[in-house]
Amino acid sequence: MKTLHVNLGPRSYDIHIASGALDTAGEAVKTVCPRAARLFVVTDTNVGPLYAGRVKASLEQAGFAVRVTTLPAGEHTKCVDSLSLLWEDSMSFGLTRTDAVVALGGGVIGDLAGFAAATILRGVDFIQIPTTLLAQVDSSVGGKVAIDLKAGKNLAGAFWQPRLVLMDPDTLNTLPDATLSDGMAEVIKYGCIADRDFFDFLCAHPSRARIMEEIESVLYTCCDIKRSVVEEDERDTGRRMLLNFGHTVGHAFELAGNYEKWTHGQAVAAGMCVAAQLGFGLGVSGGDDSGIRELVELLKAFRLPTRIDCDWNTLVRAVGLDKKSTGDDITMIFLKRMGEAVPVRMKKEDVLRNLEAVFGR
Ligand code: NAD
Ligand code: GLY
Repeated sequence: MKTLHVNLGPRSYDIHIASGALDTAGEAVKTVCPRAARLFVVTDTNVGPLYAGRVKASLEQAGFAVRVTTLPAGEHTKCVDSLSLLWEDSMSFGLTRTDAVVALGGGVIGDLAGFAAATILRGVDFIQIPTTLLAQVDSSVGGKVAIDLKAGKNLAGAFWQPRLVLMDPDTLNTLPDATLSDGMAEVIKYGCIADRDFFDFLCAHPSRARIMEEIESVLYTCCDIKRSVVEEDERDTGRRMLLNFGHTVGHAFELAGNYEKWTHGQAVAAGMCVAAQLGFGLGVSGGDDSGIRELVELLKAFRLPTRIDCDWNTLVRAVGLDKKSTGDDITMIFLKRMGEAVPVRMKKEDVLRNLEAVFGR
């Protein structure tokens, strides 16, 4: 087992990475929630049938009363109706302030159940058991919880740190290839922004099979990078913005595809390529463009797109570069070199001019 400690004073917690962690969840939860009697487990229709039985058995064996609530799989579940259902269901189960919510699933379930935990009885303990690669390396760590509104994604939420993150790498074996690749976009992002050696390691392991041979250390490295960023900037006002490398343009791609054509990971993959090219064009990135070529090859190895054609006006609007968005400046995240990201405050008109060059307009 590998363990990391996220040091946030009274909101500190451990991340456990261990094959078989699902079957020892009960003892682990008991350690961090010694006063809890009831656990309200939230999962989805894909993950529940695969893993909820094992988790429930382990939690019950440790003495907890457990209710499992299963919601439909998919982003549309991250909505106010589901949140309201969880509020009511947890009350009918008799959850009290010393009990806890357990999220068993991908980022959708983690974000939704986390927001429920932040609001039930003005906040109860929360355990993350992430089962997608994206959730294991990103969304389960750092305490951002949210639901989507009609106006956009993640628009209602909170910072609510978990008491424990338990990840079992074996759960990744049941992920479809495309869902694993989505998570790989974020894994590759960590190499780009913070660790050249890790980026090189990924280049030397360019397939699902090769990554899975080293999965515990891949998860550890990614979570360690996220840990250090979150410890420094829990509330996302400074260094945490570096995690947005590839996301500004990526969000535009997601929006242009109505959140259906491109998954988050695919959009981020193509967004990282645009950001890397922009940084190079602007002279922020030193040296030659070999890092960009390596990034493109690595993304392709995981069947991630390196270029997405997007309607120009949508792109401009979504990146916040249109005249209606306030302020003249925008903070972009660029690579100083492969393995080191920097925030760069720029005039929007300069970003636009350089984006035109990248998109060949
Ligand atoms: P997801 O939760 O929808 O999971 C993807 C699919 O995989 C779903 O169909 C799910 O049922 C299925 N699944 C999950 N685990 C499985 C397993 N082990 N075997 C088989 N199928 C499995 O999506 P995601 O990519 O995990 O997360 C995306 C969400 O995360 C988005 O809502 C995004 O906004 C959010 N997110 C949050 C943060 C944060 O910091 N809070 C960061 C990044 C993304
Ligand atoms: N996923 C970006 C963040 O946690 O800040």
